Amino acid sequence: MAVALVTGAGSGIGRATARRFAADGHAVVCADLSEDAARDVAAEIAAAQGEAVPVTVDVADEASVARMVEAAVGWRGGLRIVVANAGAMVEGDLLSLTLADWNRALAVNATGAFLTARATMPHLVADGSGALVFTASTVALAGMKGVAAYAAAKGAVAALTRQLAADFAPRGVRVNAVAPGAVRTPLSESQFRARAADEAQFEALLAQVIARYPLPRWGRPEEIAEAILFLATDRSSWMTGQILPVEGGLLEVR
Ligand SMILES: NC(=O)c1ccc[n+]([C@@H]2O[C@H](COP(=O)([O-])OP(=O)(O)OC[C@H]3O[C@@H](n4cnc5c(N)ncnc54)[C@H](O)[C@@H]3O)[C@@H](O)[C@H]2O)c1
Repeated sequence: MAVALVTGAGSGIGRATARRFAADGHAVVCADLSEDAARDVAAEIAAAQGEAVPVTVDVADEASVARMVEAAVGWRGGLRIVVANAGAMVEGDLLSLTLADWNRALAVNATGAFLTARATMPHLVADGSGALVFTASTVALAGMKGVAAYAAAKGAVAALTRQLAADFAPRGVRVNAVAPGAVRTPLSESQFRARAADEAQFEALLAQVIARYPLPRWGRPEEIAEAILFLATDRSSWMTGQILPVEGGLLEVR
């Protein structure tokens, strides 16, 4: 049974991904900043007869990432798939962003992706058919108002995807990313709750978001998980360096 490590597995897209991998027969390391959330998703998978183990990690912390990888590799003696998915929204346009906001956006979303990739790559190389999937975003591919630091961090993830694909293709590791559009999760909801004075305004803001989508609704975490599973397994065996948009047609359809 191949081992898949998913960061940010405690909620939203990561949680759906951990569950999808388990349903596909993978043993899943569920890593998250929240110990309770990691434990919950691992228990949920076990209750559905899947194989999972929870690990607590701060992906922005080098020592913590090293401990996560040690635990992951120690569990079943290897690692075939890594989904570097943990991320956090940091809002603000150029003139409102503080240096602390910028650093926070980069730390979790970009440095976290780098540290996860660097610590796991030797194990993916050793596996012989390893795959790494990042969770980027549509904001890495097109401009969007009010998320300058977050978008810059996701742009770094997209560039890292292509660079690592080039460096590690000769060593048998494929590296790809998904670029989700608006997916209804605690991350996206918190963005609009912070802007809304009441429930009615919150619902109105959510409606404004989906009005821009050719397929006019929010994405579901499970729809992103499906694309991640595709990129992480032999279903996509001749793909590397791709940033795969899963976004209801937002970027390409007018
Ligand atoms: N929801 C969207 O609309 C959307 C769109 C594009 C990209 N994304 C990206 O998808 C990924 C998952 O987002 P989501 O919407 O599922 O969010 P979410 O808030 O539902 O889940 C994120 C998870 O990551 C964990 N996490 C946060 N910081 C961490 C850290 N430092 N170390 C380890 N874990 C940490 C959180 O505890 C949480 O469980 C993120 O990278 C996000 O940027 C989301």
